[in-house]
Amino acid sequence: MNILNNKVALVTGSSSGIGAAIARLFAQEGARVVVHGRDTNAISSVQAQIESGGGKAMCVAADVTKFDEIESMRHQIERTFGPIDILVANAGQNLIMPGPFEEISEEGWHATINVNLTATFLTIKSFLPGMKERKAGNIITISSAAARRPTSRSPIPYTAAKAGIQVMTQIIAAQVGPYSIRANCITPETILTEGNQQRIPDEQKQALLDMHPIKRLGTPEDVARAALFLASDDAAWITGIIVDVAGGSVLV
Ligand SMILES: NC(=O)c1ccc[n+]([C@@H]2O[C@H](COP(=O)([O-])OP(=O)(O)OC[C@H]3O[C@@H](n4cnc5c(N)ncnc54)[C@H](OP(=O)(O)O)[C@@H]3O)[C@@H](O)[C@H]2O)c1
Repeated sequence: MNILNNKVALVTGSSSGIGAAIARLFAQEGARVVVHGRDTNAISSVQAQIESGGGKAMCVAADVTKFDEIESMRHQIERTFGPIDILVANAGQNLIMPGPFEEISEEGWHATINVNLTATFLTIKSFLPGMKERKAGNIITISSAAARRPTSRSPIPYTAAKAGIQVMTQIIAAQVGPYSIRANCITPETILTEGNQQRIPDEQKQALLDMHPIKRLGTPEDVARAALFLASDDAAWITGIIVDVAGGSVLV
């Protein structure tokens, strides 16, 4: 069953990792998917994977910290696929390592807030007016378990930005519910993306795994399945929630 038939979905930051898994699953479920990132080779490769599986995709490059680039991406999508039904604002990254508060550089602070919180704000700002006009739309944002369970080892600017995304999503949900638009937020724990597979040494993977009541680390597909549920009509009465895709790690 293709539960996203006739839907157009933009997944920002789908050139790799979690975003690529969401893009592939949405396409399998019948959506026409916009694959986005800055790396043009990587987005073309995800588009090719989707098309080789019989799915429909286009790809667009844009820097989501720049509103004019997001606007031009939106125009390009609307010319090719028409207006989007589902926006997954997934692009983001942690730019500075955990450490004492006073050692955070101003530059690192601004860059991290910019690529996570501001980028999510600018992306939604571009697509929301059309959704309100059409009285339809579905927004999914991506925060992090880091912002659900702050500890002394949390990367501070990233955690603060992701906490901001959570509350921003809930305020949007409250504002746009009357327009039949839903907005929900997913908070993944450490996910075994290609990047994390390479970055995290095996001993640290084991230590991370031990922190989870469900004794394995998460995969991009775990996050994609949660996004699919939120994007589908099965979640038609669900808005303003924060979904921990975390193997229970935020409980302990
Ligand atoms: N992996 C985890 O353990 C984990 C856990 C919790 C939350 N998250 C969140 O989940 C999301 C995806 O993470 P991931 O691990 O899958 O990351 P990833 O593999 O590094 O992918 C990040 C994506 O964001 C895009 N991106 C970054 N900055 C951008 C910018 N300025 N303009 C446009 N695109 C930009 C990248 O595109 P290009 O490389 O093509 O520019 C890439 O597609 C992020 O928001 C991250 O904070 C991840």
